[in-house]
Amino acid sequence: MSNPERSSSPVIIGVVTVSDRASRGEYEDRGGPAIQKYLNDVVSTPYQTCLRVIPDELSVIEQTLQELADTDECCLIITTGGTGPAARDITPEATETVCERMMPGFGELMRKVSLEKVPTAILSRQTAGIRGKTLIVNLPGQPKAIGECLDAVFPAIPYCIELMQGPYMETNPEFIVAFRPKKK
Ligand code: MTE
Repeated sequence: MSNPERSSSPVIIGVVTVSDRASRGEYEDRGGPAIQKYLNDVVSTPYQTCLRVIPDELSVIEQTLQELADTDECCLIITTGGTGPAARDITPEATETVCERMMPGFGELMRKVSLEKVPTAILSRQTAGIRGKTLIVNLPGQPKAIGECLDAVFPAIPYCIELMQGPYMETNPEFIVAFRPKKK
């Protein structure tokens, strides 16, 4: 890329499954692989992923998000699971704790589109926020929710990362057209 405004740092994306049972191996993690497949279809810039499967423990979620953001230098972290009303669903709280600023529009839009599919979409407290140069986005644990939610918000993610001085990310227009407002 010759455009000096485009950061040349690598695109590193964290994928975090938050689930007590998947982390204990009691059932197969289907959320993480669904996110990986989505990224494989949609992100056309070369990228690496950092994958984690962790229990619904506040300190573990916080530490994992901090490490992926600060040490692994992920420009984007996508979590799945732990967004509902059950006592151990605490992914949004962990996200809020580690983020300096929240991006409420992500949760609002994902719930809006999800409600067109399933009435229980209102049960997800999914949110998004920014830690340093990392955008963290929560998704519900249902594997089918992953595409439904990401299709809605992904068009804005490459520009969001750019505004955060992260790497330039391009998408495969067959799946998602990344929206970048024209420079004035
Ligand atoms: N959103 C979409 N798009 N599709 C779904 O199937 N399931 C809902 C909701 N959001 C769902 C969805 C349900 S049933 C719950 S309980 C909440 O997400 C929280 O799920 P989680 O605790 O696995 O994150």
